[in-house]
Amino acid sequence: MKLTYSIPSMDFSAAGKASTDVKKTLAQLGLDRDLVKRIAVAMYEGEMNIAIHGGGGTAEIEFSPDRIDILLVDRGPGIADIALAMTEGFSTASEEVRSMGFGAGMGLPNMKRNADEMTVESRVGEGTSVRMRFLLGAARCA
Ligand SMILES: Nc1ncnc2c1ncn2[C@@H]1O[C@H](COP(=O)(O)OP(=O)(O)OP(=O)(O)O)[C@@H](O)[C@H]1O
Ligand SMILES: [Mg+2]
Repeated sequence: MKLTYSIPSMDFSAAGKASTDVKKTLAQLGLDRDLVKRIAVAMYEGEMNIAIHGGGGTAEIEFSPDRIDILLVDRGPGIADIALAMTEGFSTASEEVRSMGFGAGMGLPNMKRNADEMTVESRVGEGTSVRMRFLLGAARCA
């Protein structure tokens, strides 16, 4: 099963819709509550990054018997220094975005912490893709 969502740019009334829907679907499937929470948090952060920094994009959630994969893709400005972007507290968010409560620079670190695996690929001027994998039925070591 695969779910696909379109994430609009800078639309704060639509923000969080995809992750809320995924959370509902996962809960209905009867997944472990802690796992549902981890996926929902990571997906929300990714969704907001696409809306705020990525100029809009897509989220794809693929369900497999042993895992859930999330692919977030945008054709925005890209990330020049991925290691720096992954650092807690690093943010390029505008004052306006900060005044709405975003821009703590905690989104990517949070995604990394919650996912079992995460890779970020980006090219300046072309866009960014983030893959997150969540393993089912395996005890988590971290
Ligand atoms: N999809 C993206 N496209 C372009 N730049 C991005 C993208 N996602 C993240 N970034 C860059 O990485 C930085 C860090 O992202 P992160 O999610 O950790 O923090 P934030 O979005 O700035 O703040 P927070 O998530 O805490 O509200 C962003 O400020 C931005 O510069
Ligand atoms: Mg963020």
